[in-house]
Amino acid sequence: MKIYVDSADISEIEAAKALGLCDGVTTNPTLIAKTGKSMLQAIKDICAIVEGPVHAEVLSLEEEGIFKEGLELSKISNNIVVKIPMCHEGLKATKRFYDEGIDTNLTLIFSASQAILAAKAGATNVCPFVGRLDDISETGTNLIEDIVTIYDNYEIETKIVVASIRSPLHVVDSALLGADVFTIPGKVLTQMEKHPLTDMGIAKFLEDAKKFT
Ligand code: E4P
Repeated sequence: MKIYVDSADISEIEAAKALGLCDGVTTNPTLIAKTGKSMLQAIKDICAIVEGPVHAEVLSLEEEGIFKEGLELSKISNNIVVKIPMCHEGLKATKRFYDEGIDTNLTLIFSASQAILAAKAGATNVCPFVGRLDDISETGTNLIEDIVTIYDNYEIETKIVVASIRSPLHVVDSALLGADVFTIPGKVLTQMEKHPLTDMGIAKFLEDAKKFT
């Protein structure tokens, strides 16, 4: 099981690293925009502190542009994974990256059929978005179950990176299903630490410790 940090915020990534909870990092244009940095600078800064895969998303939506942009991103550091929005042109570019030996992540996956095509195109990773499916009254983790089953059926090596995680339950449910990677925002990592009974238990032990002779 691997945990990635779903953030472009250096302090959030450092905080996860301090707990040994940063096997990699995923970013997207929205996360980069929050940093106030350019895409290039934000990715460089992350690569300077993260040894594992750093997923950097292209903005182009046609094959040639995706390919060129991905090649530029992959020059930043040897741990860059080129993140590509799921689309017809993205699948064509994925095949080219596969032939070049460059790791990819097909993102914005919302159906098992998209995950099948991504794997067949040679994607190293897929990012199914559980939270955004929940947002439209679908059960996001059902998609994880479908993709895990299909990939297992055919011994497909494409990694399932569960994305759009909004709660600890998304992580637990996806872990029970056997997903490979969870990309988790800092806020959810903190929520995962907590349990009210743990807090109450600590308070009681400290209270009772005052009675020591
Ligand atoms: C992965 O990196 C995705 O872009 C990210 O998890 C999306 O999360 P959101 O749906 O909360 O924006």
